[in-house]
Amino acid sequence: MIGTFITLEGIDGCGKSTQAELLRDVLEERGKDVTLVREPGGTPISEQIRAILLNPENRDMDATTETILMSASRAQLTRQVILPSLENGTDVICDRYADSTLAYQGYGRGLPLDWLEEMNEFATDGKVPDVTILVDIPVETAMSRLKGKTFDRMEEEGHRFLKRVRDGYLTVARKFVDRYIVVDGTKSVDSIHQEIIKKLEDV
Ligand code: ADP
Ligand code: TYD
Repeated sequence: MIGTFITLEGIDGCGKSTQAELLRDVLEERGKDVTLVREPGGTPISEQIRAILLNPENRDMDATTETILMSASRAQLTRQVILPSLENGTDVICDRYADSTLAYQGYGRGLPLDWLEEMNEFATDGKVPDVTILVDIPVETAMSRLKGKTFDRMEEEGHRFLKRVRDGYLTVARKFVDRYIVVDGTKSVDSIHQEIIKKLEDV
């Protein structure tokens, strides 16, 4: 039996990680084996790549370098954790995956989407999530949630960048409508959680 591959997407501070953990708990309560990982990161090698990517001192990082490092982290995570887990029958929840590259490096940074789609295909060995949950939220709400936190290199990009990323996600969700669930991230943690469970049961 092959496990189910669920990814969560959205701008920084949208509440994905909170929802990923709640979803993991529910699936485990229902007797499933679940692996929860995040991107960039999720393996010792990928976590080292994450540290380079998010270090605010790496201000000079070129968008192409950023993309290749995101993809390198993903390639390792996919082959070391995601594919073997799914093949074992374990469900995998991934806090961000290849669509983050389309939204941030494509719509955010302006790199060519066809190039990024090819890069994603290569990094993921063609593995596409069964379901992707987009936690959609206005940039202002997300930024106010992150107030007081020390910003990482990506979060320093600010409002206009995140607005392009948010709009980009909505475009990606329309393109891949068959696997996307879009939820309103401004609602309470519990009501978003209930909506995700209900929509997952529907599909
Ligand atoms: P992300 O992983 O998308 O960056 P988090 O789950 O870490 O987001 O949440 C960012 C912050 O917002 C945290 O302080 C979290 O407690 C808070 N938060 C998460 N979901 C909600 C929500 N629905 N309403 C209000 N605050 C939330
Ligand atoms: P993280 O702290 O995990 O953000 P969040 O809590 O919002 O999920 O930092 C990951 C950052 O990396 C986030 O700003 C999004 C960015 N990112 C990309 O730009 N491209 C990608 O392909 C991925 C996976 C993440």
